[in-house]
Amino acid sequence: MPKMEFKGKSLVENHHLSVPFHELLPMREKGLSDKASLHDNLVIHGDNLAALKSLLSIYRGKVKCIYIDPPYNTGNEGWVYSDGVNSPLIQDWIGKVVDRDDLTRHDKWCSMMMPRLKLLRELLSEDGVIFVSIDDNEVHHLRCLMDEIFGEENFFVSIVWHHRKSKQNDIRVSLSHNHILAYTKTDQFEIRALPVNGDVFSNPDNDPRGPWTLDPMDAPNIRPNLTYEIVNPTTGKGYYPPPGRCWRFSKEKYKKAFEEGRIVFGRSGRAKPCYKRYLDEAKEKGRSISTIWQDVGTATNATQELNQIFGKKNVFPTPKPTDLIRKIILLSTDPDSIILDSFAGSGTTAHAVLAQNREDDGNRRFILVECEDYADSTTAERVRRVIQGVPSAKDEILRAGLGGTFSYFELGQPMQKKSLLNGSHLPVWEELASYVFFTATGQEFDPDVINSDTRFIGRTASHDVFLFYEPDVETLKTLALSLKVARELPSGSRRKLVFAPVKYLDREFLHQYSIDFQQLPYQIYKAIGR
Ligand SMILES: C[S@@+](CC[C@H](N)C(=O)[O-])C[C@H]1O[C@@H](n2cnc3c(N)ncnc32)[C@H](O)[C@@H]1O
Repeated sequence: MPKMEFKGKSLVENHHLSVPFHELLPMREKGLSDKASLHDNLVIHGDNLAALKSLLSIYRGKVKCIYIDPPYNTGNEGWVYSDGVNSPLIQDWIGKVVDRDDLTRHDKWCSMMMPRLKLLRELLSEDGVIFVSIDDNEVHHLRCLMDEIFGEENFFVSIVWHHRKSKQNDIRVSLSHNHILAYTKTDQFEIRALPVNGDVFSNPDNDPRGPWTLDPMDAPNIRPNLTYEIVNPTTGKGYYPPPGRCWRFSKEKYKKAFEEGRIVFGRSGRAKPCYKRYLDEAKEKGRSISTIWQDVGTATNATQELNQIFGKKNVFPTPKPTDLIRKIILLSTDPDSIILDSFAGSGTTAHAVLAQNREDDGNRRFILVECEDYADSTTAERVRRVIQGVPSAKDEILRAGLGGTFSYFELGQPMQKKSLLNGSHLPVWEELASYVFFTATGQEFDPDVINSDTRFIGRTASHDVFLFYEPDVETLKTLALSLKVARELPSGSRRKLVFAPVKYLDREFLHQYSIDFQQLPYQIYKAIGR
């Protein structure tokens, strides 16, 4: 497969591996939950590179649907490449606004996207799918990046979103669409059919098979066995398929459908033949989708929607309509799926998830990441408003509030060996527990089972895991796996994996007490098999 080259590629290809885990600090007062939890709906304020890495400890392989809407790189967005890639080549880029005059702006965009897409892929479940909004500035680069990271064979669809219905008259070619590229993680993804809109079905002739609608009898193609005359029994007029088309059935199948009363000559009985499609059948089959989306609102609709929620204008420059993301959710998720948006902006994805849950009684969860300071005042504020109710909303359900909870987290300090060693940054016990447990075992950390008294931080198939640690340098100097500590650990046949700054036990005692010791902070990686 041809691969794309860009300046900085060799430096960022594996950058996601060296991004340190960061603390995720709960801000209870900014969320809408009794207790902030990483298992709640989430709004995270911070750079998504670090946030996605930190989320791996809980969400690796768990996210069913990712929707992202990264900067399109139009040259006018004022985005800044700021990843901590440690190379003079890229250091030169750090912190500078990427504008139209920047000759390396496409290289910077690819360098920014590559490690994020790699982390997103790790978060995706085997049957998951990622949708990425983009326009012509980067669609070709994005497609190459996605082919490389997700695999060409996992390209799923390219959707055209009709984002602007009005024409710009001051230019010759007025842009009316954006792209949405979708890639699956594997071939296990199954797209869902959209629910059928029952409004177009009715039963004027009291058909015992229930409400129906009329489909045309003709279909694209020219096939001799599907081309024959159909005579309207009322008028005697004969019909052939229109030029370049054929009938949808062979003559025999048509006869059967006619005898079953499924062929109707228009609602008046005097027109060309049509096929009766029943609501029950349609519901069972669902509605298939086109790759051109015109029924999900426009960019203008999205702005109006947001203005209404906030009761003022100019809240956020580039929101997407909620219906656009709802359609993605409907097509790709189950009622209990996790949906991730790491370029959250005005929080449309959270709104879409909550609205869909409200409609079908679902239990989907969202994870949003936004790096700008408006993560609280816009992203989370929209979530608060739609949960609690928007008094001025036209939609009755939104007026009453969509319900739900969410927790707000700030991205904290990186968890680095160096800062643990010199005491410059010591995370709280639970935060280190989450990091150590995941890093050492590769398994999900469950904050509900931990016990800070016994120091228990989780269980794997083979081990109970304990962490002896306090965020205080003086206490750390005295914390050790001693004989007394070993005796106080739960007895039983299960092996114990113990993390502590030091041990005062020799090998025989470790063996006697079924303990595997790992010294903090050096031995946190892959202590036991994944
Ligand atoms: C085009 S907007 C997304 C709009 C969103 N879909 C909506 O409907 O409101 C892109 C957002 O990604 C955010 N962003 C850009 N780089 C980011 C990063 N490295 N980490 C987190 N957020 C980022 C920007 O601040 C901006 O709010």
